[in-house]
Amino acid sequence: MQGLCPFHSERTPSFTVFPSSRTFKCFGCGAGGDVITFVMKAENVDYREALEKLASRAGIVIPEDDRYSNNSIKRRRVLDMNREAAKFFHRELMASSEALAYLEKRRLSMSLINHFGLGFAPNSFVKLTDALRSSGYTSEEMTEGFLCGISKKTGRPYDYFRNRIMFPIIDVSGEVIAFGGRVMDDSSPKYLNSSDTPAFKKSRSLYALNFAKNACSEQLILCEGYMDVIALHGAGFTNAVATLGTAITPEHARLMKRYTQKVIISYDSDDAGQRAADRAFALLGEAGLETKILRVENAKDPDEYIKKFGKSAFEKLLSGSRSRFDFQYDSIKAKNDIKTTDGKVKAASEIGEVISRVYSNVERDIYIRRISEDLGVPYESMRADVERRMRKNAASEKKEERRQILRKTEGFADSVNPDAVRNKRAAGAEEALLGILLAYPELIKEYKNSPFFLKPDEFFTSFGRRIYEAVTEENDAPFDIGVLNEKFTPDEMGRISAMIAARCDLTKNDLAAAEEYAAIIRDEHSKSLGLEELIQAKRNKLKK
Ligand code: GTP
Ligand code: MN
Repeated sequence: MQGLCPFHSERTPSFTVFPSSRTFKCFGCGAGGDVITFVMKAENVDYREALEKLASRAGIVIPEDDRYSNNSIKRRRVLDMNREAAKFFHRELMASSEALAYLEKRRLSMSLINHFGLGFAPNSFVKLTDALRSSGYTSEEMTEGFLCGISKKTGRPYDYFRNRIMFPIIDVSGEVIAFGGRVMDDSSPKYLNSSDTPAFKKSRSLYALNFAKNACSEQLILCEGYMDVIALHGAGFTNAVATLGTAITPEHARLMKRYTQKVIISYDSDDAGQRAADRAFALLGEAGLETKILRVENAKDPDEYIKKFGKSAFEKLLSGSRSRFDFQYDSIKAKNDIKTTDGKVKAASEIGEVISRVYSNVERDIYIRRISEDLGVPYESMRADVERRMRKNAASEKKEERRQILRKTEGFADSVNPDAVRNKRAAGAEEALLGILLAYPELIKEYKNSPFFLKPDEFFTSFGRRIYEAVTEENDAPFDIGVLNEKFTPDEMGRISAMIAARCDLTKNDLAAAEEYAAIIRDEHSKSLGLEELIQAKRNKLKK
């Protein structure tokens, strides 16, 4: 069964499901695994959560099991502790005239402050830590939850956020997963943000998505800062979100894709902001989102813009936000003086390159017409130029593709199995042997009694050895590929399902085939042993 891969953008299907082994594999991006890996990747959840989702769909309750629950207990504790900390910060804010004055200066109304649960971390090293300790949280839990640090001098915990306005980060189920804290003056760092904790992953969380998720069926507005989001919500644009002090990741893009079809990027108007916007644009587009860029003028960011010009002005910007093409064309025009011939030629050539990368014929033609008119260049020559570039791009894409395939097969820069380069023949045999055993687990028992049965130590690559150990582990129950999910990352699972897929295409998958590959691995050992001896002999000779 084949279809379009949900994990990367493609036009011809390379996503394959193998019903017999209950696995999937995308031959385009390399993603692969079983149904649990699929849910982990598609829904951005960890192993336990994926398991729970699938179980609940099937109406099964998973019993608490120490193997999994350790992390979910930790997570629960951090979430409870965060909620308590958020209440603490909020109480402190209400008691601090200085912090309230700062927020008033930033024109945040009391109802906005309450809506976002804003708070204040007092200028103390112990206040929060003491409060949490008296509620039964340990220092380990506080450091793990990123609320306190441990003093190098005294070894004692201290409040991590001090003298800062606190922004609780709340996920779509209403849990307080992390905090951001801003100073009230020009000191630096301006913001401190929680690092990843058992309850928080920065690369897959968005500020205010808890509110925006209910208002984004049409579109989301993506901003850079907390203050932008709050100002937009205050002005009625309750579909605004922001990343948490990091550049946008593919995981963010997939998260947005779950809630909406269209994203308007509204970053800071300075150069850095616009460069970031362009990167975000590419990334969101790859995730299959319709994306536009809004650039505020005469203000540094959306927050300042709304305060200066009001919400209806922003509304106008929103409806006039440009496509990426217009955005790129405008910046090309801004760079080149198109009143001069030279500038015009350069602009035409740069925009020609952009158009040559547009996929749709219709769209391309529309752009060529528009640009030739705008620049005063004949339509036919503009079109010929774009077509020449398209041929060139296609040729270099082919070359790149070939290079990538070569790279993969040669094990060069193989991040999943970095040892493979050291002995390709052995690594290939390992993959084949594992592929057979994984695809035909009923062979495992027979193979174990074979004279060619290898000890895990005989494997050359540590990746291969880890899989082999899992496969040949003494176990009462027959081997199930599902157990690998716990031990391997999604990338590694991708490789594992590729091994299975490779075998499923072949007809010779019996004990004899497995033994043959095991023999190759042994053979390589005797060779490499010989090599070692050779080197040793050389060394001895040199010594003499
Ligand atoms: P204001 O300056 O108060 O208007 O805040 P802002 O939310 O507009 O912030 P800004 O545009 O300067 O930065 C955007 C986002 O980047 C912030 O919301 C933070 O998440 C993050 N950020 C900014 N400065 C720092 C910093 O010094 N350290 C870290 N870790 N993150 C920062
Ligand atoms: Mn700002």
